[in-house]
Amino acid sequence: MIEIVIASRNEKKVREIKQITKGIPIKLLPLGSFKDLPEIIEGGKTFQENAKKKALTIANLTGKISLADDSGLEVEALNGVPGIESSRFAKTDKDRIDKLLGLMKDIPKEKRQAKFVCAVAIALPDNGKVTAVSSECKGTISFKPRGRGGFGYDPIFIPEGYSKTFAELSRDAKNRISHRARAFKKAKKILLDILSKQ
Ligand code: IMP
Repeated sequence: MIEIVIASRNEKKVREIKQITKGIPIKLLPLGSFKDLPEIIEGGKTFQENAKKKALTIANLTGKISLADDSGLEVEALNGVPGIESSRFAKTDKDRIDKLLGLMKDIPKEKRQAKFVCAVAIALPDNGKVTAVSSECKGTISFKPRGRGGFGYDPIFIPEGYSKTFAELSRDAKNRISHRARAFKKAKKILLDILSKQ
C-alpha cells in the first residue's frame, strides 16, 4: 500500500484526517516516524500557500508523497480574523477562544457569521509537483464555549443548519460536514489519480 506522510503535528487534526480518508487505499504516516524534521515556518498569505509549502517541504525531506492541511476560522464581523493566524492567535485553545469571544462581545447574534476554511495540498517528492484544493463550512460563533469534542475553536462554532457547536456534535457528524471533510472529498480525486499512476 502506498505510504503518504501527513505534514502536521496536530494530533487531533491527524486523527480527523485518518477518519475522513478511511476507505482510500493509502497508509498514512505521522510526522513522528521521521527523525530530525525541522519546524516549518508557514509565512504564506493564504491557506493554500501554507498547505503547499508544508506538503512540499515534507515531501522533499522524506522522499515520500506528502499531504498537508492548513486551516482556520474567519469571522465576518472581524474582517476574517483570526484567519491564517488561527493557530497563533493566542497560546492555548482556551486563550484563543477567550480572546475571540472578547473581541466579539458586543456583536449581536445576527451578525456572528463565520466560516472554517481548509486547504489540502498533496506534494510529490520526485518532481516537486504540488496540488491544492480548499473548501469551507459556514456557521456562527456562539456567546459561550459549549461541548468537549473536537479541537481548537470547535466549542464556539455552530455550523449552519445546526444548534449544537462542533464540540457538541459527534465525531462522525463533524467529519461529515466540516471544512476538512469537504476539502478531502476534493483531494480524494487527486489522491486516486496519483495512486492510479504509481
Ligand atoms: P494550522 O492549519 O495547523 O496552521 O492551524 C489551524 C488552526 O485553526 C488550529 O490550530 C485551530 O485553532 C484552527 N482550526 C482548524 N481546523 C479546525 C477545526 O476543525 N476545529 C477547530 N479549530 C480548527
